[in-house]
Amino acid sequence: MAEPPMAPPQPPQPPQPPVYPRPEPYTANVLRRLRRGLRSWFGLLNEWDFRVPLGRIDVLGRPLFLVSDPPLVRQLLVDQVDRFPKHPFTLWLLEPLIGRGIFSVNGAEWARQRRLLDQAFQVAQLRQVLPQMQGAIQALVQRLELAGEGSVDIEAEMTLVTADVIVRTILSRPLEAAEAADILRSFQRYQQRAGQALVLRLLQLPGALLQRYLAGHAGTIRGWIAAVIEERLAAPAGSEPPRDLLQALLEAQDPETGSNFSAQELVDQVCTLFLAGHETSASALGMACYLLAQFPEAQQRLRLEVQAALAGQERPLEFDDLRRLPYGTALFNETLRLYPPLSFFIREAAADGALGKSRCPLGALVAISPWVIQRHEQHWSDPQAFRPERFLAECATAQERAWARDAWLPFGLGPRKCPGAAFALQEALLVLAELVRRQRLLPEPGHSPDLVGRLTLRSRNGIRLRLERLSRS
Ligand code: HEM
Repeated sequence: MAEPPMAPPQPPQPPQPPVYPRPEPYTANVLRRLRRGLRSWFGLLNEWDFRVPLGRIDVLGRPLFLVSDPPLVRQLLVDQVDRFPKHPFTLWLLEPLIGRGIFSVNGAEWARQRRLLDQAFQVAQLRQVLPQMQGAIQALVQRLELAGEGSVDIEAEMTLVTADVIVRTILSRPLEAAEAADILRSFQRYQQRAGQALVLRLLQLPGALLQRYLAGHAGTIRGWIAAVIEERLAAPAGSEPPRDLLQALLEAQDPETGSNFSAQELVDQVCTLFLAGHETSASALGMACYLLAQFPEAQQRLRLEVQAALAGQERPLEFDDLRRLPYGTALFNETLRLYPPLSFFIREAAADGALGKSRCPLGALVAISPWVIQRHEQHWSDPQAFRPERFLAECATAQERAWARDAWLPFGLGPRKCPGAAFALQEALLVLAELVRRQRLLPEPGHSPDLVGRLTLRSRNGIRLRLERLSRS
């Protein structure tokens, strides 16, 4: 009998783009978009938004712009900050949680807070906070060792480790398991409600009523932070205070007015730093782990880079080792491109004027979305693909370098740019390096993260992975 003909060799399949909620086809029906937006802010978007430089919808007669053209974005966030301050919805949405903290206020109130905060960040430098970060990461490593091999919700683990990092950095003490459960649960509920509250506010539901809906869960977090600060302030005179971020905030003095943060402002700032400092990093690290599991070559390349940086030594990574992780840095940057933790920023037009070729009336809501800009067809080649090499100096083309400069803004731009960007990169490199040198991260069969845009980008069903312990070389 004749042998059946051999099947011709198949060309290698290009890797599938990593998961993302695909935008819906264009619809002019604003109510339908808003209904989708109640589940996730991504539901407000259409395919079309990923192709055009400027989108506009009108919600109950109020214009809402989506700006995706990099020069126009720069105009808004860098050159005309006073014309486009943070939208009052930002303060309204976050006030139950962070009061009048730096993230949501504008003008002179913001400028003074920023001077004080920048001073505190200079005191609590990156090299100095490294031991606190390492302490939290060692606790993570031990938790994962205890859990053994198998399935893990890595998003929950990343939330815990980043909350522990920020608590240790601010307060010089770990986040206890019992407090963590209470606080993180409250925060998760706040997130869920905040996403819906913003869309309901666009529909002009009464703000005070919606704020009450948010306030309960925020109270747990604020109460805990206020108590810890009180404890520090009540320390007996003459006792040596720990050199941490809280102490730096207490001692910061505004060079222009000579004022310090008041007790109330301190609670607001610490709540802000707790929120801004752990929630964003948790989102980014959860997605970075997901990508490492989906792309084993990238994972192995990072592992080899970490091993080379440590030159075979069995020790935690030190500050100077981090400079020897260019691929790790590129991988984190690409994670932030595909999955920016803060997917939207909103501003308000404080005066009538032009926005590109459109008229932008006083009071218009102007949204800038790293989620859209960083997946925009006009700004990136193959925008849905995971390719850390875009951010590696020796691999990126001149065009890719220009895009990385102009169309990559996970930390924002201009004077309101994130002051914690270097902190976040250091933390991410330490966490990812310690994970890949000990564990192999594998996809969990049948699991796909269900990504939703709320205060930050999160997965409704967690991010499940399988961990396999590596034998130590
Ligand atoms: C991957 C991690 C992070 C991301 C993606 C991120 C992103 C951002 C973005 C986009 C903004 C500006 C928002 C706007 O313009 O409306 C911002 C502001 C801010 N971030 Fe971050 N952030 C991260 C980590 C951190 C950390 C670790 C800290 C503190 C330790 C921090 C503290 C702040 C503060 C205080 C502001 C307000 C700055 C101001 O309004 O002047 N962030 N962040």
